[in-house]
Amino acid sequence: MKIAILPGDGIGPEIVAQACRVLEALRSDGLPVETEHGVLGGAAYDRHGEPYPEATRRLVHAADAVLLGAVGGPQYDKLDRPLRPERGLLAIRKDLNLFANLRPALLYPELAGASTLKPEVVAGLDIMIVRELTGDIYFGQPRGIAVNELGEREAYNTMRYSESEVRRIARVAFGIAMKRSRRLCSVDKANVLETTEFWKEIVTDVGREFPEVELSHMYVDNAAMQLVRNPKQFDVMVTGNIFGDILSDEASMLTGSIGMLPSASLDENNKGLYEPSHGSAPDIAGRDLANPLATILSLAMMLRYSFNRDDVATRVESAVKKVLAAGLRTADIYQPGCEKVSCTAMGDAVVAAL
Ligand code: IPM
Ligand code: MG
Repeated sequence: MKIAILPGDGIGPEIVAQACRVLEALRSDGLPVETEHGVLGGAAYDRHGEPYPEATRRLVHAADAVLLGAVGGPQYDKLDRPLRPERGLLAIRKDLNLFANLRPALLYPELAGASTLKPEVVAGLDIMIVRELTGDIYFGQPRGIAVNELGEREAYNTMRYSESEVRRIARVAFGIAMKRSRRLCSVDKANVLETTEFWKEIVTDVGREFPEVELSHMYVDNAAMQLVRNPKQFDVMVTGNIFGDILSDEASMLTGSIGMLPSASLDENNKGLYEPSHGSAPDIAGRDLANPLATILSLAMMLRYSFNRDDVATRVESAVKKVLAAGLRTADIYQPGCEKVSCTAMGDAVVAAL
């Protein structure tokens, strides 16, 4: 198992360090893990002058899977767009063809009180958002800021999807639905946008290959509302890049803490990049306060999806559940009556629970 480790920026290095300790513990138990570190985002800009340098490109192409912390920070906001950390993230996704982004929103019973929604609305919540990650308005050409015929500046981006792009993400989503409750909701804005009217048509067509899955369709504005009104109506949701970006942040917060949620971005052969769903939290970076659990759970997703090791993945997830049950909490998920711990102490506890 050749794993490229990209700690990134902000709290990235701290949370990734804890995930690496978990990996180390698994290695000493005989898991054939080989790791190599590289840079991405602001850290890469600082060292190489670009957010996705050639050395990193070579490293991740040679690896079987990639573990990423987070990228970005205010010190990079003034850089030219192509040099910004976020561009490094978009570049690695595109370069490795990681078109399938899986973002679970799972509520741990111990953390039910952390949600801003009523406990009865979120208890037992378990949604999987499947977000297309390498197309849509994120990558569509033409794009830019230019002066128009009237001499006024204007800006434009292009929302576009090809049939094959929609088909392959739909197949992934139906496949995941088959392994869960066989319900899939495809999210679009087909009442206004041709791109997503087309999306709906192709997803419906792919659905004919999966007659056991009950497919529904929902407009994105309604989906945003339904997610806070009655989130448990959803099981697997599939949507395009921009809607998925927005809805997955919304869904993550239903669980009370984005600090708990992992994600996987996969290519056609299940090679993947795994990262927490949260960002680089520059405000708390370097203070040993961050929650490493989303990163540790991302590692579990890696073991499951890229290395087909459900057994080891479950072992890691059980260790996380154990430390939560024991009442350990980083600041972001702290509630009175629990024990507030640092990022490192949380890592210690997970390793011990393993
Ligand atoms: C995400 C992030 C990224 C995205 C940014 C950092 C480019 O918000 O992974 O959801 O928009 O895809
Ligand atoms: Mg986002």
